[in-house]
Amino acid sequence: MEKVVSGIRPTGKLHLGNFFGAVKNFIRMQNEYDAFFFIADYHSLTTHPTPGDLHSSVKRVLAEYIALGLDPERCTLYLQSDLPQTAELYMFLNMNAYLGELQRLTSFKDKIRMQPDNVNAGLLTYPVLMAADILLHKGVKVPVGKDQEQHLEMARTFGSRFNRLYQNDYFPEPQAFNYNQNLVKVPGLTGQGKMSKSAGEWDSIYMSDEDDVLTKKIMKAVTAVVEGPSEPGSEKPMPIQNLFELMALVSAPEVLTQFEQDYYKGTIRFGDMKKQLAEDMCQFIKPFRTRIQDVLNDDVLLSRVARQGAEKAGASADKTMREVRDIIGFKKFY
Ligand code: TRP
Repeated sequence: MEKVVSGIRPTGKLHLGNFFGAVKNFIRMQNEYDAFFFIADYHSLTTHPTPGDLHSSVKRVLAEYIALGLDPERCTLYLQSDLPQTAELYMFLNMNAYLGELQRLTSFKDKIRMQPDNVNAGLLTYPVLMAADILLHKGVKVPVGKDQEQHLEMARTFGSRFNRLYQNDYFPEPQAFNYNQNLVKVPGLTGQGKMSKSAGEWDSIYMSDEDDVLTKKIMKAVTAVVEGPSEPGSEKPMPIQNLFELMALVSAPEVLTQFEQDYYKGTIRFGDMKKQLAEDMCQFIKPFRTRIQDVLNDDVLLSRVARQGAEKAGASADKTMREVRDIIGFKKFY
């Protein structure tokens, strides 16, 4: 079975966009591939979190992925920091990663602009660490967003450079991989584009939001500049289109059709529509929220999953590193 490898940055609570984008794809992949998913906690050190913050965000993201459907019986779910082999491969790959090519990456240039006082070497070599994550399991399919394509290109470069240097075709070439359904767009509530954490707290619907919070956020959602119903037959402005798209994700098809018809007839009341959407959203989120809470409180489950993942991923990493050391020329004297 082909190997899928993907890393999850531990950056706070998952929202509806993450769910319909990344998480649902991962759930499908775990049934169809030999899938390795890990929490990229080494990567998060570039911004110097406190030990407490680091631990709580790692725990949160692990619990949320389990609660939303990643199944440790079907995939290998682990913490990056449980595999010290990652750091070793990263070091080896760093010997053939060049300053010029790393400095040219868009993500690095963006980071310099965003955190000019903390341009550390880890930031520069972020793509080398990511390549190590993938190559460690000889991964070939890598589900990532558009923003990671340049990093993936670097992973191919580092892998093939290693192969060329040691005249060996050891590492396969990892490719970006997504099901087409990944293109499901989940808009945010502030009338702009995709749901995004950076658009502020009113934009995102979190999978762990309580009913009152969900209702408040949806009732506050931007509708249109113009008050009242639409011109009959007119095109939907973006904020309205967004509400319809959210409704399509969580409401019954008849409900959606009804509001569509009201919209085109010009009899729609956006307050009613948002009330309906809020109700349906609460229904949709509730089982996820409950499950997230349960998993977060279940330290036994969390430790069992993490241990099982570390063992499975560790075995795969050990095999690769034994072979890599041998290829490089570290032969055992004893
Ligand atoms: N860089 C990825 C992101 O920001 C996370 C990541 C780390 C990753 N290592 C990886 C993704 C390996 C895929 C494969 O989202």
